[in-house]
Amino acid sequence: MSKTPCTLRLARDSDIQPIAVMSRCLIEVGLRGWTWHPTRIARALRSRDTCVLVAEVENGFAGFAIAEFGDTRAHLSLFAVQPACQRRGIGLAMIEWLMESALTAGITQIDVEMRSNNFAAHSFYEALGFVCTGQVAGYYQNIETAVRMQRRIGAMAATPQQ
Ligand SMILES: CC(C)(COP(=O)(O)OP(=O)(O)OC[C@H]1O[C@@H](n2cnc3c(N)ncnc32)[C@H](O)[C@@H]1OP(=O)(O)O)[C@@H](O)C(=O)NCCC(=O)NCCS
Repeated sequence: MSKTPCTLRLARDSDIQPIAVMSRCLIEVGLRGWTWHPTRIARALRSRDTCVLVAEVENGFAGFAIAEFGDTRAHLSLFAVQPACQRRGIGLAMIEWLMESALTAGITQIDVEMRSNNFAAHSFYEALGFVCTGQVAGYYQNIETAVRMQRRIGAMAATPQQ
């Protein structure tokens, strides 16, 4: 599918609701409750260690990423692209932006977890150079297993990943 140009920017308050709804519908679907509810997204938006990124296309909101930056590791907490905008390079554009920011911040590794049946996300991260480092039983509400993936960046990219 052809790539769609997108604009990346930091999230603002008006993005809280669409991000929370996308999380519920695309990531937490089928799980009990709603863990990434608007209040939690708002908290992420105000956290100094968290980056909430939004991708926009011509006709509006296309996707978002929430990443927590530690001293040497960044954790992708939430990441999604609207179904109508998928396979157009928007996820890739957001990851590249985050990796560049992470490198500038001295980060050497990016970690992410996904539901074990999320084959699209697994293929996406694999295509971007992430490797699977294991599974975490009960990661999602003590019911569902997560697959953990990581990607080393910068000078650490050459070192073997576990
Ligand atoms: C995973 C997700 C974020 C990918 O975003 P995207 O914008 O569609 O991804 P891109 O278009 O940048 O894809 C880059 C590459 O990743 C791979 N990829 C992406 N989606 C894929 C899929 N469904 N199946 C197989 N490979 C896929 C491909 O190699 C793709 O390159 P190509 O299209 O040139 O073949 C998107 O499918 C999504 O939002 N899913 C629902 C929410 C979710 O699962 N979030 C992740 C939880 S951690």
